[in-house]
Amino acid sequence: MNTIWHGNGTVESTGQEKGESLWIQKQFRYADQGAKEPVKRPVLQEDITTDVAVIGAGLAGVLTAYMLQEQGFSVVLVDYKTVGSGMTKNTTAKISSQHNLIYHKLLTYKGEERAWEYASANQKAIEKFEEIISRQGIDCDFQILPSYIYTLDNVLKIEQEVQAARKVGISAVLAKETTLPFQVKAAVRFDHQAQFHPLKFLDAVAKQLTVYEHTHVTEVRDDGTVVTEQGRINAKSIVITTHYPFINTPGFYFFRMHQERQYVIALEGEDIDKKAGLGGMYLDADPQGYSFRNFKNYLLLGGAGHRTGKSNPPDAYVKLEEAAGKWYPKANVVYTWSNQDCMTPDSIPYIGRYSANTPNIYVATGFNKWGMTSSMVSAMIISDMIAGRKNEFQKVFYPRRLMLSGSKELLKDAAVVTINLLSEHLRITHDRLRDIGPGEAGTVLKDGMKIGVYRDKYDKYYFVTTKCPHLGCSLEWNKNELTWDCPCHGSRFDYRGNLISNPAMRDVFDACQRKKK
Ligand code: FES
Repeated sequence: MNTIWHGNGTVESTGQEKGESLWIQKQFRYADQGAKEPVKRPVLQEDITTDVAVIGAGLAGVLTAYMLQEQGFSVVLVDYKTVGSGMTKNTTAKISSQHNLIYHKLLTYKGEERAWEYASANQKAIEKFEEIISRQGIDCDFQILPSYIYTLDNVLKIEQEVQAARKVGISAVLAKETTLPFQVKAAVRFDHQAQFHPLKFLDAVAKQLTVYEHTHVTEVRDDGTVVTEQGRINAKSIVITTHYPFINTPGFYFFRMHQERQYVIALEGEDIDKKAGLGGMYLDADPQGYSFRNFKNYLLLGGAGHRTGKSNPPDAYVKLEEAAGKWYPKANVVYTWSNQDCMTPDSIPYIGRYSANTPNIYVATGFNKWGMTSSMVSAMIISDMIAGRKNEFQKVFYPRRLMLSGSKELLKDAAVVTINLLSEHLRITHDRLRDIGPGEAGTVLKDGMKIGVYRDKYDKYYFVTTKCPHLGCSLEWNKNELTWDCPCHGSRFDYRGNLISNPAMRDVFDACQRKKK
């Protein structure tokens, strides 16, 4: 969608598809590197042996493979699709240890030692990005900038965060003024944070690695075998960096995580140029607020977040465009996209051994919207563990920790799953197919089975089974993106039934795909 803002506040849409992030646009991803197309990598078609197999070629997987290879391990990285084609391409790419108001929460619920580990690991992750980028001369639009969390109403929570961050070694500053186009009550500022183009960085690192793309892992065995559709990998260690872990047991990560969606628009135009960049990255402490950062002449505005599959706002992009129209009335919306994050009950990622019974399998997941530094932290911790070194920050990320601080969230997640499983067969939105309007979706009963139906504007019907193949919850229609989303753990499928996001591992095609007569 290419939305042009007019002075009278009306909006004109000029037809570009929603959903393509700015990062995957060829002119930004490849122009400076002399390449016109992505690198084509092979599919694994034979049995191979390696020290470490890493599954999932997003930022966490690529960095983990890179660090292990640097230490002399042989490493093979595999991905179901291509390098960076998952969540990394949809991030806002802030490299920051400022993860909303986390330090006050960590000090309150986890104590000073764990809070220090969290802060130090993330500060070290920023330094590590800087070091790799400068040592390798990677051109990825890397910029050191301050990062701010602001509030429009609650100064006390900002003051508490400043104190908490200082206590764990971060020189946080209480700011009253910002470069945002509206007045804030207060903000906490961390200096020497960073932003970059995530795929330019990822491409530069991944080209040094052995990667197999379009390689679908069907099984992981605790004897070190990774089974794919056309070949096996025999490895001493296995690392799972697939955004949401796809092995249900052991580990039981589905009990301890849900997913949330967030929407982003990129603006350009006179208003953005005139303000010559924000000179920093911003996020509202209120979850219903907005995030801001610049990339070249663009402003990236994020917000309208919600739990995947629940409270799907029918107008997430409209909400962002209205906010943009208020602050930047002469700006154009040139790109729109969304991303999805795994959320843990205590807001801390799971990084370490997958389970007590699988000593050679490792996991990195639950990045709680802070995927850039969390990926680097994962790579540092897991590469140390595989090399047999103790990492001084690893305890706070221990995947099997007790989460008293997150017990309310755990109960909430359990309630969503239970209610959804019990209601899978109950909610039928339409009696007859023809009651579903063009461009709309609903559920009907067919041969006693609940079927999801999307009717496009040409009266073509698309049928899916609404029972999620992960653990059986009921899929919900997402009007913003024409997808079927699962509220339980966040699997997503396009309107044709193709799998977009795990933990589900297969599509939801219905046998009765057909055109309306
Ligand atoms: Fe777990 Fe759908 S993602 S039941």
